[in-house]
Amino acid sequence: MKALIAAGGHATRLRPITWTHNKHIIPLANKPMLWYVLKKITDVGIKDIIINVNPGDVKYMSDHLGDGSEFGAHITYLEQRGGAKGLAHVVANAEEYLKGERFLFFLGDNIILGSINQFVDRFEREQLDCMIALSHVKDPHRFGVPEFNPDGTLKRTIEKPKDPPSSFAVTGIYLFNEKFFDAYKTIEPSERGEYEITDVITWYIQNGNVGHEEITGWWKDTGTPDALIEGNASIMDDTPREEFCVNCQLHEDTQIQGPVSIGVGTIISADCLIRGPVVIGKECKIVSSYIGPYTSIGNNVEITNSEVEHSILFDGAKIDTTRRIVNSLIGLNAHLVDCKRSHPKSGHRLIIGDNSFVEL
Ligand code: DAU
Repeated sequence: MKALIAAGGHATRLRPITWTHNKHIIPLANKPMLWYVLKKITDVGIKDIIINVNPGDVKYMSDHLGDGSEFGAHITYLEQRGGAKGLAHVVANAEEYLKGERFLFFLGDNIILGSINQFVDRFEREQLDCMIALSHVKDPHRFGVPEFNPDGTLKRTIEKPKDPPSSFAVTGIYLFNEKFFDAYKTIEPSERGEYEITDVITWYIQNGNVGHEEITGWWKDTGTPDALIEGNASIMDDTPREEFCVNCQLHEDTQIQGPVSIGVGTIISADCLIRGPVVIGKECKIVSSYIGPYTSIGNNVEITNSEVEHSILFDGAKIDTTRRIVNSLIGLNAHLVDCKRSHPKSGHRLIIGDNSFVEL
């Protein structure tokens, strides 16, 4: 079986971070988000993987993710041609790789804890035409939503309905057989002008044998800053304790509590408290600070006289502030420091890019 991962799009809800980063490369516990998707896919034995990327992004994405050899797999990077015309169009764009195949389609911004084995197993064992994974959500109108018949069988799936017929989301983990491209030919663009993946699934429901299963563990579409920060925390919770590892020399008085990873060349002063789970990259300098649970710190980060928790700090970030930093995304080389000028004392000096969000 092959897999196609959708890793294009513009992720406007994550601006300004996504002005300069593709969302799927954003670090969660210091690995690109897509690393976890690749791990899930290769763990079920799929080794032939196509990643759909924005036009011009092949080198950028492959520089971050490699050729798949890390996972014993082979990755083909495929530019999305013809513009953003919906997720079914993303699959159609990969027809030359997927024609005649049974395949997994995985939305690269979906993070799931636990294995996807049970879905793939059932799809193969029962030789289903299509299989979808559902998750109970509070806000189904933001997702594709299944509608059920009175006997509990699937009736159809609808994209972002104003009045959702159930409280389930169709997650971004789909299995299709070779009939996908027949289905695609029958669907029309929706009101928002997109070839909806939910319309393809409805075709399968009407013309084939579709399985559905609920994801009972943690699943998230990481489309917003809060979801990303939650994803970062959940991944740390899911990481076995023995995989946390300190690779630098620590002062004997530095307090390290719980699972903590620290990269080579990082210096942490004796008066710091690091309370895990925490992941700290290479060549960082942490002085007289508290780093609290669920914080990911990239490489070359400097934190002085500060308190940070439940946050993601990208490479090169610099923090020196008496204000406690929580639930935050601090971008590449961003500086957050207390004003050292004497006047005016209560002023805040801000140089903030478009679409930034600051809560003082
Ligand atoms: O997360 C599950 C939901 O994902 C489903 O319930 C919906 O039915 C499905 O349409 C999708 O909705 P989203 O609004 O979350 O889709 P989004 O535009 O965020 O794109 C999903 C993924 O596909 C994301 O990783 C980016 C990628 N993508 C998106 C577009 C629009 C592409 O690779 N190319 C694109 O043109």
